[in-house]
Amino acid sequence: MQLPRSLQTRLGIGLTVGVTLFWLVALAGAVFAARNQLNARFDSALAETAQRIMPLAVVEVINREDRSRAQHIVAFEAHDEPLVYLVRDRGGQILLQSHNAEPAVFNRELRAGFSSSPTHRFYGAWAVQGSLHIEVAEPLAQRREAIRATAASLLWPLVVLAPLCFVGSWAFVRYSLRPVLAYRDAIESRGSGDLSPVSVQDLPTEILTIAASVNQLLERLRRALEAERSFTANSAHELRTPIATALAQTQRLQRELSPGKTRDRALGIEMSLRKLSELSEKLMQLAKAEGGGLLSTRQHDLAGLLQLIVDDLRQSPAADRIELALPESGACMRALDPDAFAILARNLLDNALKHGSAEQPVEVSLSPAGVLRIVNAGDIIPAGELAQLRRRFVRSKTTARGAGLGLAIADAVVTGVGASMELCSPASGRADGFEVRITFPVTGA
Ligand SMILES: Nc1ncnc2c1ncn2[C@@H]1O[C@H](COP(=O)(O)OP(=O)(O)O)[C@@H](O)[C@H]1O
Ligand SMILES: [Mg+2]
Repeated sequence: MQLPRSLQTRLGIGLTVGVTLFWLVALAGAVFAARNQLNARFDSALAETAQRIMPLAVVEVINREDRSRAQHIVAFEAHDEPLVYLVRDRGGQILLQSHNAEPAVFNRELRAGFSSSPTHRFYGAWAVQGSLHIEVAEPLAQRREAIRATAASLLWPLVVLAPLCFVGSWAFVRYSLRPVLAYRDAIESRGSGDLSPVSVQDLPTEILTIAASVNQLLERLRRALEAERSFTANSAHELRTPIATALAQTQRLQRELSPGKTRDRALGIEMSLRKLSELSEKLMQLAKAEGGGLLSTRQHDLAGLLQLIVDDLRQSPAADRIELALPESGACMRALDPDAFAILARNLLDNALKHGSAEQPVEVSLSPAGVLRIVNAGDIIPAGELAQLRRRFVRSKTTARGAGLGLAIADAVVTGVGASMELCSPASGRADGFEVRITFPVTGA
């Protein structure tokens, strides 16, 4: 049998079974002791009765004319006789018997003292110098019934107490585990980017050490990630100025050179520098997207932001094929940092314009429920490749320029704001193309 995983249920069941078992053992002991006591009491009553009846029986038998004839004692009124007796002479001849006595149940031998048969308990005694023998019999059923009643009266409370014990221990364990459950919830509810220490208030000492270690681990992880991010951001930032200077110098050099091989080389250098500049820009974006702080305390209208971003892009001729559809009802409010949303949307729009087929429009839509879809035409990307595209520096078959960081940046933003991103190829409802669908959940106002 497999134990339940929940500590609460396990302790509830364990304590209840334990208490029940101990109760049963105690009950067995109590019944055993009670049986011995009862037997002693019944035996003494039995002996007492025999001693009391004996003188009466002796007088009765001696005063009789025909001593050899058995005599039945007639009852005064009909009654149940728990005790029956037989008076016999030395030869076993019955001289006197109580009105309900059944001679067959008595001992054949004439014995003195206590003896038992499967159904009866006897007490025998001799009188008149051993010439008369009385034996009193008591059915054992009576004793058994008394013991059964004692056991039942001890067992009944258990029927009520066992469920109460289960509920009680379950509730108490639940109460005691409250800080642990609160700790679990605190860890569960935080986003993947939140590495701040978890509150360890009121935790039981057994778990406190674990919680403290988890916090230490989180702190180390946070510092390591922080160091990685700040290094990326700083290097990208530091590269900006030298790249811009080199680019300006190269452009100047080109203008000064007459057409020919040397000028072509200068053009090549310019191209490389532009790539480098784009790469450092993307690295900065990635560092920002992975750095957290993507959620805002204020609600912003994603529809308005998207409109601004698309308007800005449309300034360049390559972007005039964007078709934007915004919710009719107006705003789509989410607690998102506008810069983070802009980085996300620009990277995806950039991809759609760059990798999508140049003759076909790029469809951009935002639904009132907060679903952003960006669809473009183009070759289908096989599912195996599609699954890898979010990773850094991974690119599919494409002739367009790029570093392979756009979708990694988008993925970091989406994770950081608690949204979800799906990539589909072919796009839904078409035979070709690429679709990115992002769902922004409704966040607290
Ligand atoms: N809208 C799109 N249409 C077609 N392919 C795309 C689209 N977006 C991304 N891809 C594929 O995913 C790859 C990774 O995209 P990304 O990470 O932005 O890198 P980059 O754009 O620098 O190549 C691209 O190289 C391209 O093959
Ligand atoms: Mg890209």
